[in-house]
Amino acid sequence: MIKKIPITALRPGMNVVKVASDQWHHLPYLYSEPGIIESEQDVARLLELGYQEAFVDTGDQEGMSEETPLARVVAERKHDRERPERVPFREAISSAMVTYEDAMTHAMQIVQDAKLGRKMDYGASLETASAIVESAVSNPDTLVCLAKLSEFDNYTYTHCINVAAISVVFGEYIGMPREELVLLGVAGMMHDLGKTTVPARIINKPGPLTPIEREEIRRHPEYGCRILQRNSEIPAKVMRGVMHHHERHNGSGYPVGLARKDIPAFARILCLADVYDALTSDRCYKNAILPNKALGIMYGMRDQDFDPTEVQLFIKCLGIFPAGSFVRLNTGEYALVFEANSREPLHPKIRIIMDAEMKPIRTRDVDLTTQPGDGGAIEILECADPSSYRKDLINYLTAR
Ligand SMILES: [Fe+2]
Repeated sequence: MIKKIPITALRPGMNVVKVASDQWHHLPYLYSEPGIIESEQDVARLLELGYQEAFVDTGDQEGMSEETPLARVVAERKHDRERPERVPFREAISSAMVTYEDAMTHAMQIVQDAKLGRKMDYGASLETASAIVESAVSNPDTLVCLAKLSEFDNYTYTHCINVAAISVVFGEYIGMPREELVLLGVAGMMHDLGKTTVPARIINKPGPLTPIEREEIRRHPEYGCRILQRNSEIPAKVMRGVMHHHERHNGSGYPVGLARKDIPAFARILCLADVYDALTSDRCYKNAILPNKALGIMYGMRDQDFDPTEVQLFIKCLGIFPAGSFVRLNTGEYALVFEANSREPLHPKIRIIMDAEMKPIRTRDVDLTTQPGDGGAIEILECADPSSYRKDLINYLTAR
């Protein structure tokens, strides 16, 4: 499994791996040169250079890098709240799509307002966040699917909306009241507005940043709060979420270096959603990581970046195969997951859409929990890479 560890825990023979994400390429203390650590002198040199953390591949299957152990850990989480009755996916998806598209339009508007120094329409933000909350309550899988499969390719806007949607889905899962969820959605939409103040050449730079560029990008939470201050009606809770969404559980984040429960709850939730969306999205300088692998990596970041209980709840909320996952079956066919299953994580509801040659077939829905036990059951073998099909995949979910 891939695990994030302090450099002080690094030992000769350990295999350092590079996990590409804009989440940490501006963190100067993350050592990410892939390769085996040869000696104690190597470790001492890295400490001397100021590195504090690295991702290593422990090579074992224990943990969350493979589906089965991932399922075990998720199923073992005891305090799973009874989920309210949901609107069936096929009924909820159309209105969720309208909500998602409206939210995209709103995201473009607030980004534009921020760039031009205009006051934003906070009432419209509340309306957009309320619609996201309605969708999450009626069927959270619709939003999780749309966050992964929608055709919009502008990361700035999709990331705002995805972080809002995933945060709200998780907030709803842990039982936050509706008014709080709306504010959490607003904070999600606005969490990175401060990046509009940072020059685009720094934001989109594929290579390593200079110390000055790094410092500039690390100021975006503060810049974001400055933009929000133009609207006096924005609650302090939203401000704090935006200000602290890059703080980390072990105190290694920014801008303040808050740790553990000193990090406001909104910021801790935004941080989980932010990392998940960044890992699973295509950027100019990396390829997206498949949803189940991303959750495995996030599990390996517990204690460092995330509270261990909270990251496990987050994984349980999204499931081993989050809605929107493209999967290969034991029949050779390919399917889309449209409903995760937190009780039986390996048995979500799926829509089979392609044959073994990846040719489209007449679709059929299968609930993997209710299959004959005669040995002929359909099983998910693995997550498949949907990148070359992404434009079409969303259509399979909206078709009846
Ligand atoms: Fe950010």
